[in-house]
Parts: sequence; C-alpha cells; structure tokens
Amino acid sequence: MNKLVKLTVVGMGPGDPELITLKGLRRIQAAQLIFVPRSRDRQQSIAHQIAGEYLDLARQCIVELPLVMATDPVHMVAAWEAAATLMAQALPTAGEAVYLVLGDPSLYGTFTYLAAALQTQRPDLLIEIVPGVNSYSAAAAAAGIPLVIGNERVAILPALYEDDLASVIALLDQFDTLVLLKAGAALPRLKAALLAAGRADQVLVAERVGFADQRLWQGLETLPDEALTYFSLAIVKKRVMRDA
Ligand SMILES: C[S@@+](CC[C@H](N)C(=O)[O-])C[C@H]1O[C@@H](n2cnc3c(N)ncnc32)[C@H](O)[C@@H]1O
Repeated sequence: MNKLVKLTVVGMGPGDPELITLKGLRRIQAAQLIFVPRSRDRQQSIAHQIAGEYLDLARQCIVELPLVMATDPVHMVAAWEAAATLMAQALPTAGEAVYLVLGDPSLYGTFTYLAAALQTQRPDLLIEIVPGVNSYSAAAAAAGIPLVIGNERVAILPALYEDDLASVIALLDQFDTLVLLKAGAALPRLKAALLAAGRADQVLVAERVGFADQRLWQGLETLPDEALTYFSLAIVKKRVMRDA
C-alpha cells in the first residue's frame, strides 16, 4: 500500500522550547494537523504549551486527545482505542501530521499505547518517531552533574512503589545512579527512605525542569516534606554529588 499520510511522533523535550530538535521543529511546521495528549489535570497539554510559539493557528489544526489513564486494563484498552479512533478519523488521506510527546517518545511516552490500534485502523499511515531530550538528562544538565561516567551503571525506574522505596534505594548496591521518574507523590516516602539509608546528600530532585518555574534541590536539607507535582524526578547517586 502507498503510504500517503505521514504521522511523526515528535519528542518535545522536557519544557524549554529551545530543547526541541531541529528535525522535530521542521516536522511540526510542515504539519497541517497537530495531535496533543491532554495533561492529567485536564488543562492545556504540556506538549502543546512547549510547542506554542512554533504553531500557526491560522494554518494548522490542533486536536487535543483526552488520554484517560484508567487503572484497570479493560478500561485502559478501551480508552486508548477510543483515542486511536478519534485520531484515525481526524487524519486526512494525504499530507503530514504530528503527535507531540513530552520529553522523549520512547520513555514512558503515551504514543506507544495508541500505535497498534491506530495502525490497524489506518494502514495507510507512515509513522516515524523523532526522539527528544528526556527529562532526567535535562535535570542533570540544569544541576551541572553527570549521570554516569566511565563504566558506571545507571537504572531508570518509576518511583510508584507503595512502601518499598527502601528496596529501591538498596539498588545502589548494584547501580551507581538511580533515576526515579513519576516521583512527585512519592517524595515524602523517598525522603524518609534516603534519610534512613544515610544518603541525604546523594540526591537531586528536580521539578518542572525547563519551565519558568523549574525547581531543583541538591540534597534533602531544603526539600519540602510534601509531595511535589507529577512533573518531578529524583536522581540518586552512590557517591555524594559534586557539580560537573
Ligand atoms: C510519563 S513520564 C514521561 C517521561 C518523558 N517522556 C521523558 O522523556 O522524560 C512522566 C515523568 O517524567 C518526568 N518528567 C517529565 N518532564 C519533566 C520535567 N520537565 N521536569 C521533571 N520531571 C519531568 C516526571 O518524573 C514525570 O512523572
């Protein structure tokens, strides 16, 4: 089949519009149709906010997709299939469209859920992925610290564990650096686990990296006791952190 419609999934980087790749920007500007996943709090999509200054609303059509994160698998699959149907119907029969993703599309990106259903409904689609700057690389850069050097080992995991953050911290026996994403709600428990493990000086916490209200904490001393927003991550190092 001739693939006449091109859908590019563009990694938008963590927040700073200058961290979009040149390739991503060109694809955005060439598109007639822009899909953006709507954020969890149902306000304007974060990826949409980042793209804002590059969009031409007189020429381009923006479609916000309500991407419900249901906890049970049946509702989850139904929600993603509904979003794929919405996309399949909105896509033209020729031309270029983009789907904007926060950070890098391969790292807990939303498009992965949609891809199979969309491709089934629209076999004429040519899908391409443009990588983006991920949030933890941007956080390390903002703090001026390396993630890993030489033959050090790094593990990336979501900090969603109910009461098992001590065993996550214990992974420092095997890894030199732990990157904990989705860490906002877990921050109070993470703080307690790090203090209990005697690792108070070995953590960087970053919230909304790349946005005007970005916040960084190196060590636990000034880190609030309350949960942070969803757009927060922690980088825990085996050794005490030094600036790069
Ligand atoms: C569903 S994952 C998406 C990750 C994204 N694709 C990436 O490449 O970074 C969402 C998590 O990424 C992290 N995150 C994304 N953007 C962030 C930012 N600007 N500042 C801090 N953390 C961020 C947070 O841990 C958040 O809970």
